Amino acid sequence: MTNEALCSLALEAMEKAYAPYSGYKVGAALLLEDGKVYTGCNIENSSFTPTVCAERTAFFKAISEREEESLPRFIRIAVCGGENGKVTGPFPPCGVCRQVMSEFCGDDFEILIITGAEPLEYRTMTLPELLPLRFTPDFLN
Ligand code: THU
Repeated sequence: MTNEALCSLALEAMEKAYAPYSGYKVGAALLLEDGKVYTGCNIENSSFTPTVCAERTAFFKAISEREEESLPRFIRIAVCGGENGKVTGPFPPCGVCRQVMSEFCGDDFEILIITGAEPLEYRTMTLPELLPLRFTPDFLN
């Protein structure tokens, strides 16, 4: 799957966001090594703290729906967001989502941060760039 196709899926997923409180819709599309893609959107809550981000929705779907016992290898994620679903600039992953990526992804995992939709524009970052000196499962024996 091309980066452009993955970004299109993130833009589509953004439309499914449930964001009545912030008004900011976020979409994510997560590519696995076997070619499967899991999408996610943010899902807010009137009690605020139960809100889940688009990126974590995508990761948790991929993990909970996997067919193998072993975890899938994650290749990259495309992320977009904006007020009322309009992409006017980057909507980068929050710290909690970066930490979730850190649990399941290697140093070569890429984050495509969509900065414009029409025409499509995005910048590519690796996980260590987004989260230097990241805490991984390797630190726990
Ligand atoms: N949000 C995400 O979905 N992903 C992020 O990484 C940043 C924040 C959502 C949470 C909330 O519904 C809205 O954006 C505003 O913070």
